[in-house]
Amino acid sequence: MLRIAAILLISCYTLQAQESITYVINTTTVKTAIQPSLWGIFFEDINRGADGGLNADLIKNGSFEFNTPLMGWKTTARRIPDGVAIIVNRQQENPNNPKYLQLDIPRSTDTLGLVNEGFGGMVIKKEVRYDFSLLVRQQQPGIQLRIELLNAAGKPIATARLQPATSSWQEQSVSLTPTDTARKGRLVIWFEGSGKLDLDMISCYPSDTWKGRPKGLRADMVQALADIKPGFIRFPGGCIVEGTDLNERYQWKQTIGPRVERKLIINKWNHGVAARPTPDYYQSFGLGFLEYFQLCEDIGATPMPIINCGMSCQFNTAEVVPMDQLNPYIQDALDLIEFANGNVNTPWGKKRAELGHPAPFNMKWLGVGNENWGPQYIERLQAFTKAIKQRYPDIQLITSTGYSPNPQFKYMDSVLRKLNVDIIDEHYYQTPNWFLMNAGKYDNYDRKGPKIFLGEYACHSVRIGSQDNRNTLLCALSEAAFMTGLERNADIVTMSAYAPLFAHTDAWQWTPNLIWFDNSRVLATPSYYVQQLFSRNRGTHVVPLLQEGMAVTGQDSCYASAVIDTTTKELIVKLINASGETKQRTIDLPQVKKKKLTGTLAVLKGPAPNAINTLGQPEAVTPAVTTVEIKNKGVITLTPYSVNVLRIKI
Ligand code: AHR
Repeated sequence: MLRIAAILLISCYTLQAQESITYVINTTTVKTAIQPSLWGIFFEDINRGADGGLNADLIKNGSFEFNTPLMGWKTTARRIPDGVAIIVNRQQENPNNPKYLQLDIPRSTDTLGLVNEGFGGMVIKKEVRYDFSLLVRQQQPGIQLRIELLNAAGKPIATARLQPATSSWQEQSVSLTPTDTARKGRLVIWFEGSGKLDLDMISCYPSDTWKGRPKGLRADMVQALADIKPGFIRFPGGCIVEGTDLNERYQWKQTIGPRVERKLIINKWNHGVAARPTPDYYQSFGLGFLEYFQLCEDIGATPMPIINCGMSCQFNTAEVVPMDQLNPYIQDALDLIEFANGNVNTPWGKKRAELGHPAPFNMKWLGVGNENWGPQYIERLQAFTKAIKQRYPDIQLITSTGYSPNPQFKYMDSVLRKLNVDIIDEHYYQTPNWFLMNAGKYDNYDRKGPKIFLGEYACHSVRIGSQDNRNTLLCALSEAAFMTGLERNADIVTMSAYAPLFAHTDAWQWTPNLIWFDNSRVLATPSYYVQQLFSRNRGTHVVPLLQEGMAVTGQDSCYASAVIDTTTKELIVKLINASGETKQRTIDLPQVKKKKLTGTLAVLKGPAPNAINTLGQPEAVTPAVTTVEIKNKGVITLTPYSVNVLRIKI
């Protein structure tokens, strides 16, 4: 049935062919090779992307390091006598993890417990093993721990006991396997007996993490990334890199090694968006730089770290470090390259090996700054460039033009071009119309200048930055139209990434986002499917697709581009119909001798241009793939508001 429908859809109707507009694709004139990096992804810890997101730990604030040290925790007793539960701060002795909880229980009890609420409740799955662990020190023996996973009604669905063992800090763990599932569960630690106990670094991870790694990442979220087959992962930001001020900037060295040594800091998005404050948003760095590099390796993406350039977020404090104190920042960059790529005899290569990964991660790019601009940026960039190029001439540096195509962009672009930088990063958060109007943007770019990286872009349905923006079909197809322009100009546009990547449905600051999720589900947006369609149909070389000798950049509301894949011997054509009318296009392949061609057609469409996917209706806009047969001068029908990817053996 499917096949018949497909053949009906795409067929050689001579009559129609005469009426329809013709796209001539020259399959033997290879314009340019496509970089494997053309379609990538960008992860930033925004919208609860890391803790409560990719980092699968159920416990919020397990280290008691939040500014309000018991945020996320409640005691079972209405009132605890003074001195029974206190937070100790040993800042001098342990600056990376100063706080811990001390319990001093003079009289035997079994009614004192600490409840963790998780991230808006815990999803607890029946018969999945959960690994609870903590750092514990017994100052006065006599207290035993009873750990329970509770359902929403407060009924225990898993129980385990743990006997603190020593008078010095020790990591102890115990596993629990629930007999039931809970959507809004909690975890409680009961303290039985009397004595004195210190507790820190409490965590509870499910065992069904990505690749079953202990204390690992949420498998369904990583799978969603792997399914895109991205060429690279840009990480960790975004404004996160810059921080509200320099104290809060991202420092990669604080994110590796034992979890207890990773210095928790406030998340920039905790207070970043006035309309959506998130006072419990912190960065534990359970997803740190080693996990990031490992993730890249796991899903076949090249790492693309971004480093602070000595400037904090220019929308916030705009602090800069004086030039004569920039060296530690530059050293961080040099050390990061060594940590990623250095052999095991170098200090940071050795560190990587000690952390379990002797093989290098083959990092090729480093972003100097995120959205920084002005002469202060240029000055700092030059210092970074000099030091990095001297030691690592092959590392390509990504340089910033700021946050949008505004007057500041022009200045930055011209200065960066004069400096002959490797790669210029451009960011576009714009309306559907802007994306449609700019499908030809790169057709006349300077071919001899730096390469272009679309480090962040997304179509905003209502207004740029509006909280009402939605991931509509129209947004997705506007991005697709724009992406045909990126593909056609793959000789200068070598990389691109949608932003932001993830958003928790109950805890977001920014919209739209590529992937939404809650504590147990992942929701792909129409934009996600566009990224996936382009990435999985990347091809190896661009070939010309012309309508009356011109690139197709919006004539009659259509957009198109073509590539070939020399490994599979296929032609891949992307066709976008941005109108509410059905369109017919004749695909003319003068160089193809075969009369009958077979392949597949993937169509992304929906009930209306403003259609969105929701957790209740996740498949309102999803691509449908059919097999097709087409003659080498056949007609293809483009349904209203659709993104079409035709893939045929030539
Ligand atoms: O993607 C969200 C934010 O948008 C990024 O953190 C920042 O780089 C940009 O302004």
